[in-house]
Amino acid sequence: MCGIVGFTGSRDQAAPICLDALTKLEYRGYDSAGICVLSGGEFNLIKAQGYVKILAEKTDGGRALPGTTGIGHTRWATHGEPNETNAHPHISSGGLFSIVHNGIIENYAPLREFLISRGYEFTSATDTEVAACMIEFFFRETREEKPNETPEAQVVEAISRAARRMTGSYAFGILYKNCPDRIFAAKRESPLFIGVSPEGQYLTSDIAASLHKTREFITLADHEIALISPEGVKVFSGELDELEKKPETVDWDVEAAEKAGYEHFMIKEIFEQPEAVKKTISGRIKNGRVVLDDLDISEEYLKNISRIYITACGTASYVGVAAKYNIERYCRIPVEVVIASEFRYCEPILDETTLVIAISQSGTTADTIAAVREAKRRGAKVLSIVNVVGSVIATESDWTLLTLAGPEICVASTKAYSTQLAVSYLIALRLAEVRGTISAGEYAAIIADLQRLPEAMKTALALKPELSYLASRYFIANDVYFIGRNIDYAVTLEGSLKLKEISYIHSEAYAAGELKHGPIALIENGTLVVTVAAYAPLAEKTASNAVEVKTRGARILAFTTEKTAAHFKEIADNMIVIPDIHEALLPSLAVVPLQMFAYYVALGRGCEIDKPRNLAKSVTVE
Ligand code: AGP
Repeated sequence: MCGIVGFTGSRDQAAPICLDALTKLEYRGYDSAGICVLSGGEFNLIKAQGYVKILAEKTDGGRALPGTTGIGHTRWATHGEPNETNAHPHISSGGLFSIVHNGIIENYAPLREFLISRGYEFTSATDTEVAACMIEFFFRETREEKPNETPEAQVVEAISRAARRMTGSYAFGILYKNCPDRIFAAKRESPLFIGVSPEGQYLTSDIAASLHKTREFITLADHEIALISPEGVKVFSGELDELEKKPETVDWDVEAAEKAGYEHFMIKEIFEQPEAVKKTISGRIKNGRVVLDDLDISEEYLKNISRIYITACGTASYVGVAAKYNIERYCRIPVEVVIASEFRYCEPILDETTLVIAISQSGTTADTIAAVREAKRRGAKVLSIVNVVGSVIATESDWTLLTLAGPEICVASTKAYSTQLAVSYLIALRLAEVRGTISAGEYAAIIADLQRLPEAMKTALALKPELSYLASRYFIANDVYFIGRNIDYAVTLEGSLKLKEISYIHSEAYAAGELKHGPIALIENGTLVVTVAAYAPLAEKTASNAVEVKTRGARILAFTTEKTAAHFKEIADNMIVIPDIHEALLPSLAVVPLQMFAYYVALGRGCEIDKPRNLAKSVTVE
């Protein structure tokens, strides 16, 4: 997720205002930034890799870019390495347009080919530069067809024509060289706002960036296009009808605005999961098949894999546990999940037919980096699943599949976990298809449910009031045990970690069948046992385990589906029923109420939540 800013006014210099707005986006994390000012019919553009303060130095606090109209950008790379070349703003190859973008143009590759065939040249690897050239291409077409239209009208129509040919999400800030004092804006799925004030108009992807300048904001809706000038704002529909859009007063404080009105980043990121998963899988399922264009692995290699190690830390390692069940079930490849701090010293038995999958949100976790290096030293190939382009783990792996969760601010991982799970499903399906170990019917059934997963996650999120209530009943617990079988067990590991890391309650996860081999001695009167029983084939057995602890005084909080709820009607003290979905994808739904339960328990205990004690977002030391 990138940050977009812009300003056009009659007096104030645009670059310092853009710089100031970009620093307000600092909390989101990014890898490069840039500003372009339109002055005297010329674009003055400066970009920098790294933090905004480097851009501030390069632009002498904005003074090196004189002019009253400009756009700025902070980049969280999704296409192309995080370097100055790929940083925004981008200029179209004919030099007419300067553009900043937040979102993903899924079909940028064929569009790029189309433009190259018409003589366009590219300097970056980004989808954004393709968008700039698409707008320029359709501007030339519009200007030819409608020479008597004003330049503003020609640009608005060009944006509309270009947008219709792009699939995916976008929020654009656009300057046209021959329209001084004008900023054009357009959006689809990615947020975009225009702050209005007597001093001028502020374009922003994040209200927090301009809330200190104005509280009056116009919110653009999907497909709308805005023409912004020092005098005001005109908004057009995708069909070019002019719309009446009144600014609304935002009464949030800046901190609340950074969280888009949520109380904490954690709950904001929990609710961002459907969109993050949708972004992560879209463009990777085409015509009912998994298509990993960004994975240059030969089918030969995939067919010859004899075993898989999955190595990661914490939450990422629990994705590995869930992936193990799916890969072994559908691909018939033995999978061993070894946490990275152990993998690096356990002398793993690897060879050229061993695939090591390293999972890491940050891409900078020291133990996981060491595990990747150890795997390569021993002759294995490494496929990493990371959320940060250009991170150490991404650059040192043989192959990388990106999660498109956007910046995850809360130390406790939620949307990164869900997008890592989504990528693991894609890998399992691709492996199973190449190795012929899955029936066409099963493959199609999983694909169908994977495509409806984001909507199903929204249904699970709607359980928020129930989880808030249950947390109010259990937030004083001292010891909590999570139990489940098979793929449900994988989810209990994550549910237990979420609870312990933000509420500081002692919590442990056990395979439900393991209780009687010792842990059941810990059960006392009133002990809370969270039972995850979404996986139907073993739900009855898990229910029996729940009875074992209930008869010893435990309270049972069951997480089931419509299919498995019947087993718990007489047993559970409280039950949460999640939507049903293909069993391979159950972790993505079962985890959502567990995340909310942990969040509300921590809230009830007055814990810090976004920055829990003793924890760091990325553990960059051993
Ligand atoms: C999860 O909520 C924790 N923040 C922690 O377990 C984290 O998942 C682990 O440190 C791995 O981090 P990474 O994904 O950035 O490598």
